[in-house]
Amino acid sequence: MKSFDIRTKIYFGDNALDRLVDLPYKKALIITDPFVAKSGMLQMITYRLNDGYTEFEVFSDVVPDPPIEKISIGVKAMLEYDPDVVIAIGGGSAIDSAKSIREFATRASNKQTALIAIPTTSGTGSEVTSFAVVSDPSKDIKYPLVSDSMLPTEAILDADLVKSVPANVTADTGMDVLTHAIEAYVSINNNEFSAALAEKAIEICGTFLLRSYLDNNDTHARKKMHVASCLAGLAFNSASLGLNHGIAHAIGAKFHIPHGRSNAMLLPHIIEYNSGINKHSKSQKEYPKCVEKYVNIAKLLGVNNFNEITTVRALVSWIQFMLKEMNIPVSVSQCGVDRTTYFNAIDSMAEKALADACTATNPRVPSKAEVVQILEHLYE
Ligand SMILES: [Fe+2]
Repeated sequence: MKSFDIRTKIYFGDNALDRLVDLPYKKALIITDPFVAKSGMLQMITYRLNDGYTEFEVFSDVVPDPPIEKISIGVKAMLEYDPDVVIAIGGGSAIDSAKSIREFATRASNKQTALIAIPTTSGTGSEVTSFAVVSDPSKDIKYPLVSDSMLPTEAILDADLVKSVPANVTADTGMDVLTHAIEAYVSINNNEFSAALAEKAIEICGTFLLRSYLDNNDTHARKKMHVASCLAGLAFNSASLGLNHGIAHAIGAKFHIPHGRSNAMLLPHIIEYNSGINKHSKSQKEYPKCVEKYVNIAKLLGVNNFNEITTVRALVSWIQFMLKEMNIPVSVSQCGVDRTTYFNAIDSMAEKALADACTATNPRVPSKAEVVQILEHLYE
């Protein structure tokens, strides 16, 4: 038996932030990072809370790749302030921090608190997922925490917040959206509902990702990518992800390469590995099952070719074209990582990638030697 539900109420479209004027809550803890706190974005939230007579306090101690120590400081702040709603505003790190802080504070106090997630990048989809990633820097590990109790109560998608996102962040986070949708689509846990959401997200990425990268005044493209990010989040919340994310978490924890960039560099390698196109021979009668899914993805992106294998090759080329057009590095060496340091870390990164919860739903079960090989190819 399978089930599917969307528990997070989503507000979107023009002036979606006006939802904050009508909140049924009286005391809000805003969780964000120092950049958002100093930018005009925080004021876009706080003046609406003032209009709605919602009292608030700001916790702005969020850092990228949130470590466990910062989460416990946030839990202490939440228990002291005792809000009836937590408002997370920022990228994936802010929303994941807020989800983790609220989760542990709820366990400590036994008091239910609402969570409103407001993304300021179009990437993680964290506003609608039960996942949060926290880091343990002492062990170079990123842990995906998974619990339905971490699902935000509400998500607000207001594209005014993504207007001034720099081009390189648009590129990285946009490729994260595409990777979420593709991994959810080929996941062994995929279903008709997650597939419908992933297909729409892929279609939007195909039309609007490059546009939103090339022109940050293209508000229509940015609005579309903001919705695509959420659609892909809903898709992987149901179907989960795959080896691409398993390896990206390991690389990100060790070398602090932005999450979306790690995913983007890996995506061509993972599609080649999952579909087996590099080893496919003409005498082989059957393709791996995921090949058919990659062919569907290619068609959604307007990519087609003679047969299944050449179409998957064309999909890989399309992704490589996107990386080039958006100036995303195609290898770890281009990210400035020292060769010896990287190769010395491969064995331990491969083990962490295999143990990562995302890897469990990959369409092909990887061996350690295969993950090592992917990591080796990723360097050059
Ligand atoms: Fe991701």
